Amino acid sequence: MKASTTISNLKHHEGKEVTLAGWVYKNRPSGKLVFLVLRDGTGLCQCVIEKNDASADYFDNAKRLSQEASVVVRGTVNADERSVGGYELRVTGMDIVHDSTDYPITPKPHGVEFLFKHRHLWFRSQRQFLIMRLRHTLIDAIRSFFNNNGFTCVDTPIFAPSAGEGAQTLFEVDYFGDPVYLAQTGQLYLEAACMSHGRVYCFGPTFRAEKSKTRRHLTEFWMVEPEIAYASLDEVIDVAEDFVCSIVERMLKDHREDLIELGRDITELEKIKKPFYRIRYHEAAELLRGPKAKALLERDLEEKNTRIAELEKQIVELEEQSQSAPKQWQKDKAAQEAIAAREELSELKEQVGNIPHHMELAANFQIGSDLGGSDETIISRLHDRPVFVTHYPAGVKAFYMRRDRENPELVENFDMLATEGFGEVIGGSAREEDYERLLERIKEEGLPQADYEWYLDLRRYGSVPHGGFGLGLERTVSWICGLRHIRETIPYPRMMGAVYP
Ligand code: 4AD
Ligand code: MG
Repeated sequence: MKASTTISNLKHHEGKEVTLAGWVYKNRPSGKLVFLVLRDGTGLCQCVIEKNDASADYFDNAKRLSQEASVVVRGTVNADERSVGGYELRVTGMDIVHDSTDYPITPKPHGVEFLFKHRHLWFRSQRQFLIMRLRHTLIDAIRSFFNNNGFTCVDTPIFAPSAGEGAQTLFEVDYFGDPVYLAQTGQLYLEAACMSHGRVYCFGPTFRAEKSKTRRHLTEFWMVEPEIAYASLDEVIDVAEDFVCSIVERMLKDHREDLIELGRDITELEKIKKPFYRIRYHEAAELLRGPKAKALLERDLEEKNTRIAELEKQIVELEEQSQSAPKQWQKDKAAQEAIAAREELSELKEQVGNIPHHMELAANFQIGSDLGGSDETIISRLHDRPVFVTHYPAGVKAFYMRRDRENPELVENFDMLATEGFGEVIGGSAREEDYERLLERIKEEGLPQADYEWYLDLRRYGSVPHGGFGLGLERTVSWICGLRHIRETIPYPRMMGAVYP
């Protein structure tokens, strides 16, 4: 048997006989009936198998099918509001393609580490399936925005002879005996391309040897980078603002239900409208050291401690029930809930442990230093729409950023902080277009000038003001889907100590 349609298309086949090919998501036998929930990559569908003469050959096999067995089923499509997806299949025939005994990822809760070791199977879980679908749409939304706004896609190399961002995070590769590096950014190459096309972008994997394990850092991530000739800092920020509004709008349009299913607070995303906030680095520093930041963290501490006390009480009760509840299923349910509560508790305790440190960092923020992850979180949480923080001290930013002509201590850059504490998702700047100034910065940074001769050429022949930015795809997926940790946003996350499978 071969599939004649997909679950997502059942609506066009009401009352007709169709064939679906998929995998068993759940199997619930009940007397003379078997309820199989099938998934086929387009949705879920309940298939009902009734024991009668005609079903004699497959009914008993269907009853024994385990989670993730692959099957092809034929049946009649019935609309049924109570059924998952709104349609049900009355089965009239079935082929078992391959069984699946002891599938490791059961409906029981599993630890995060276990799930990532089984990433190749974990994909099949409904939540992971949804996240990958959302990522897919986001990639399309990103490309569409640039394609529809006069940008040409120019691919940049992954083997790079020199650093594009900080030299501390380079991955070295042996290139026929010479060291080269995995690209940290395509920007420098794009700057060359924008002098040909005016508006360009690249979208590809980038690599950073981040030696810390945080919820925001991967060692391999995808970044989209536009670059615009004859653009000032403000004009680049305008593009970033339109871009972010357009991708959020598209995600809400195509995936409202999916976002809700993932537990995302849609109202927060609906607020992502122009104008975003624009503040200078110095104002951000004032905010961090001021009373609002302090009050925010104090309230946090109080709320989290209240929740901790609640959870501790719940855990004792659940553990008691898991021992003494009258029915086995009640014991199992209590045990499951206890696991979830313990996970939340340990996460909260870690957060509470960090709050005093974050308070101290914010209160003693030194002008001249870079904003840390916790500082970004605070600024982001003090605003209801994204915030562009501009004009950082040159010392904490990359060599290519344009000096502020009024205050050469500063650069014309911006970071866009997403809402709800998600922090930086975009980094960008105007680029230094002046030959002498750029050369000085290259020397100051101790970068080998010979490696950057081609880049200096751009300032020798028809140099123009220009600028651009980079948006991290995974951080944006985390933000839009409301996922606290970046590792679930990419098919195969790469972090320090994590490269399997
Ligand atoms: O701020 P970054 O380092 O900027 C650049 O690379 C510029 N060359 C971009 C440009 O102007 N064309 O990185 C840009 C974005 C960050 O805001 C963040 O979203 C993401 O890339 N990013 C990471 N995402 C995941 N893991 C990491 N280790 C990341 N490092 C940066
Ligand atoms: Mg940055």
